[in-house]
Amino acid sequence: MSDNNQIVYLNGEYLPLHQAKVSVLDRGFLFGDGVYEVIPVYGGRPLRLEEHLTRLENSLSGIRMQPPLAWDDWKSILDKLIVGTEDQSVYLQVTRGVAPKRDHAFPKTPVAPTVFAMCTPIAPIPASGVSAFSVDDIRWKWCHIKAITLLANILLRQMAVDEGCAEAILIKDGYAIEGAASNLFVVLNGTIITPPKTNDILPGITRDLVVEIARENALPLEERDIRNEELHQAEEVWVTSAMREILPIVQLDGQPVGNGRPGAVWDRMNELYQHHKALLRNNPA
Ligand code: PDD
Repeated sequence: MSDNNQIVYLNGEYLPLHQAKVSVLDRGFLFGDGVYEVIPVYGGRPLRLEEHLTRLENSLSGIRMQPPLAWDDWKSILDKLIVGTEDQSVYLQVTRGVAPKRDHAFPKTPVAPTVFAMCTPIAPIPASGVSAFSVDDIRWKWCHIKAITLLANILLRQMAVDEGCAEAILIKDGYAIEGAASNLFVVLNGTIITPPKTNDILPGITRDLVVEIARENALPLEERDIRNEELHQAEEVWVTSAMREILPIVQLDGQPVGNGRPGAVWDRMNELYQHHKALLRNNPA
């Protein structure tokens, strides 16, 4: 839960959350015309900050916006917002700003972007795993852009919640590609498999870290497409994100995944991931 008095950043100012206000003409509000980032923070230190800022700049470039701030400016905003050493995440959002009137096309005279940042606590993940449900992907063709225009993702996640599930696994042209707000991994015959980074999915920072950790520890891993049938035959299914780390899916479409408990490969990967986090926690900046 966000604390109404917590300090957030809005357009150059630091102010309590309840005082942070944006115009109704903001293009983020009217059109979802903006991008965002979610950066996990452990022991007061952001995980993979450079990678997150690079992805933010890629998302901005994908929607034809210039970066509103330099990396050092982002770093100093994070330094001011991150309080304490509890697990938390920083949310960054940049919209195309407040135009003089509602018009789909970009404002003729450029306006200042709206820049917002806040911290949110990260809840521990349920280590016993969660249920998921598979559903046809109804999103657009540029899912590599971390756009705030999340209506399709929200509807897909809510369909999963309505089924008593924690995540929706999206199926596109017969392939399982990612979660509604997470990347996808399966284990088949002992090999970890995750789909390659294309415009169909968000290039997850957690995903890349999991791939890196697997390679460093000689765990068999392939980046390749996962057929829907393979998703349903997998010994293990996990989803990854900044907020959910590596979350085991123990039930898919009402059927147990493997033996219905988090698998041995997840156990090992999670141990390695937690070790990586602990290094960050134990080495204050
Ligand atoms: N979502 N795919 C989608 C569609 C996502 O929305 C996310 C993250 C991911 C995982 O990316 P990362 O590992 O960098 O968090 C993959 C964030 C957490 C959100 O929308 O809140």
